[in-house]
Amino acid sequence: MDVETVKTIFETHWRKGWGSVSVQEAMFIQEVIAADRPKAFVEIGAASGISGGLICRMLAENGGENFTTYDLSHKFFGDLSKPAGYLIDEIYPGGPITVERRFGFTALDIIDHGASYEMAFVDGNHKHPWPLIDTLFLSEVLGGSRKIIHHDLRLYRLQPRPIGIGPKYLFDQFPEARRRASTANRGNIFHIDLTMKTAALAEIAEAAIHLPWTLSEPLDAEQMERIRALIERVYGAQLLAAFDKAAERYNFTAPAYRPARAAAAPRKRAFGLFRGR
Ligand SMILES: C[S@@+](CC[C@H](N)C(=O)[O-])C[C@H]1O[C@@H](n2cnc3c(N)ncnc32)[C@H](O)[C@@H]1O
Repeated sequence: MDVETVKTIFETHWRKGWGSVSVQEAMFIQEVIAADRPKAFVEIGAASGISGGLICRMLAENGGENFTTYDLSHKFFGDLSKPAGYLIDEIYPGGPITVERRFGFTALDIIDHGASYEMAFVDGNHKHPWPLIDTLFLSEVLGGSRKIIHHDLRLYRLQPRPIGIGPKYLFDQFPEARRRASTANRGNIFHIDLTMKTAALAEIAEAAIHLPWTLSEPLDAEQMERIRALIERVYGAQLLAAFDKAAERYNFTAPAYRPARAAAAPRKRAFGLFRGR
């Protein structure tokens, strides 16, 4: 797809506040798809379906066969009268790509669903450690070039309290040879390459998991159990111990951001003291 076509799709469908990829970020996704030509692609975080519809068109032009999208929600948060992913069919009305929607699920379910993929796009929960957890689960179902594209590397810089820092923490732990950030949208999208030994990924995960978690909702008992089971089975006792330690320290809701108050009260008091002398 040329950039003018992508721009036209955005002009027709995109609305501010929908948290979607930008035109230039979509072009980066296309570049990665065109280079590796994945047959099967999975997305975490469908929302309106803009990214999903575009990815389907990119796959169709590059020998792809199927596209699966996951979203925790059945509805699109930007317009609750619409189902999640409703724009996929409008942007990609049909063709060689089989589209599978997995709504009400997260990456924690992906192994149980039994499918395998060759490339992924993660744009779900950006609070640490979700992007890392998504990556650890996806690694189990990824073959081919094993690339995962992550969105919102710069999100934390735009927030009063930088809770969307998960992609940044993840990016920083990967060796330079195994990560590539785009220049699109001032460097807001990147891919990592998981063609490495499981022990190497476990080491990266261990470094990341110790960084302060920034969750709005703590991982619940069932999520904790599923994550611990995966780590124990695949990544080993050392990462499990690190995860448990980090959960003990950080698995709670990040406090709400409260801007500092202007220092009016101390000045009044100083004035009072002055008058009394
Ligand atoms: C930023 S939006 C995705 C935007 C979309 N990729 C696009 O470019 O149009 C994030 C979506 O992820 C979903 N979500 C949040 N946490 C999730 C999780 N842990 N797993 C899967 N989806 C999640 C939300 O319901 C929301 O629809």
